[in-house]
Amino acid sequence: MKNSSDPPMASLSSRIQHARILDSLPSAVLALDAGGTIHFANRAAAKILQRDQDRIVGKQVEEVFLPYPFIQQLIEKENPEEQEELSLILPGNREVFLGIQAAPVPLSQGETGTTLHFHEISELLELRKERDRLLELATVGAVMPTILHELKNPLAAITTSVEVLLEDIQEEELKKQLHLVFTEVRRMKLAFEGIGISGRKLRTSSPAAIDHAIREALGIFQSRAMEAGISLEIQIPNLPLLPLDPSVIRAVIYNLVTNALHACSRGCTIQVQAGIEDEQFWIAVIDDGEGMSPQVQERCLEMFFTTKSSGSGIGLALCSNSFRRAGGDIQIESQQGTGTSILLSVPLQPSKLQSNQPRKPLHQESQNG
Ligand SMILES: Nc1ncnc2c1ncn2[C@@H]1O[C@H](COP(=O)(O)OP(=O)(O)O)[C@@H](O)[C@H]1O
Ligand SMILES: [Mg+2]
Repeated sequence: MKNSSDPPMASLSSRIQHARILDSLPSAVLALDAGGTIHFANRAAAKILQRDQDRIVGKQVEEVFLPYPFIQQLIEKENPEEQEELSLILPGNREVFLGIQAAPVPLSQGETGTTLHFHEISELLELRKERDRLLELATVGAVMPTILHELKNPLAAITTSVEVLLEDIQEEELKKQLHLVFTEVRRMKLAFEGIGISGRKLRTSSPAAIDHAIREALGIFQSRAMEAGISLEIQIPNLPLLPLDPSVIRAVIYNLVTNALHACSRGCTIQVQAGIEDEQFWIAVIDDGEGMSPQVQERCLEMFFTTKSSGSGIGLALCSNSFRRAGGDIQIESQQGTGTSILLSVPLQPSKLQSNQPRKPLHQESQNG
């Protein structure tokens, strides 16, 4: 309904009002005459071009924005509605990505001017990049189970053959080499388990030797850590049989220790501890490597979040998901330059829901010290 205090339409059509309307738009507008001189710039244009509006008006368009011939090409494009995407270097060497469209405007005396309409698309490009990355990962994820399945059987056959050979062969040098093969094959198996964790449940009905599973998984990392000059300290007490899936625990160890090894350089220490406290099983991997920035720490549990050029960003997400789904929790403490502690805990009886406070305080505590 029309209110009697509404401004009359006439005031909306004054020149000043037109400028105000254009200023209120979130996207940038420039109006050029037939020679490429700018006659109008709205507020959003001034913001993107990082100049005051009155320092844009009166300038040739190439002085503050783009070459005029390029703009004419935009108008003559086969599909002028489609926005052109380009990057622009602004004063102060800041690069912006813009989506831009140009349209002809008939002026008096048969001349034709141009309006340019543009907006920043840096976020859009980021989103597009992220979408492509996720699509790529989804494709890999879709074929992964088949590949893993195909590799499982030959890997098991190789392991068995090497084991048999190891028992039979007497020659020391050959035995040493075979042992290396054996270690690498076991590492491959563990890596497969590390990715294959997603479909499996942490809690099982048949109790298993979890302490043994942890030591077994860690055994594979010992030589790798030693080669890299990183000390791997293991504090795993003998535990009773627990209603947990040893393959999930091995996968967790694989993911956490691999991350710790990535973060550590020569001279660093990685501690792996586990135990039972207040009817909860807990496992902690503590390193004194590079640590995480607060921004990385905030996002590190997100699926597909990675800071590594060849990372997948699934390790921590899979570990925390499998513990949380079983009613457990993950606690991460990290500081850049100091190191990272990751504690996973899960109640041993499903009914005992975990309180927010993990039982075990995280701290660097050397076995030797
Ligand atoms: N122990 C650690 N020290 C430092 N940063 C870590 C550690 N563990 C994980 N991160 C950070 O969390 C990110 C996600 O880890 P993860 O899910 O395992 O994926 P990925 O290892 O493939 O990057 C890593 O890229 C890294 O930035
Ligand atoms: Mg990882």
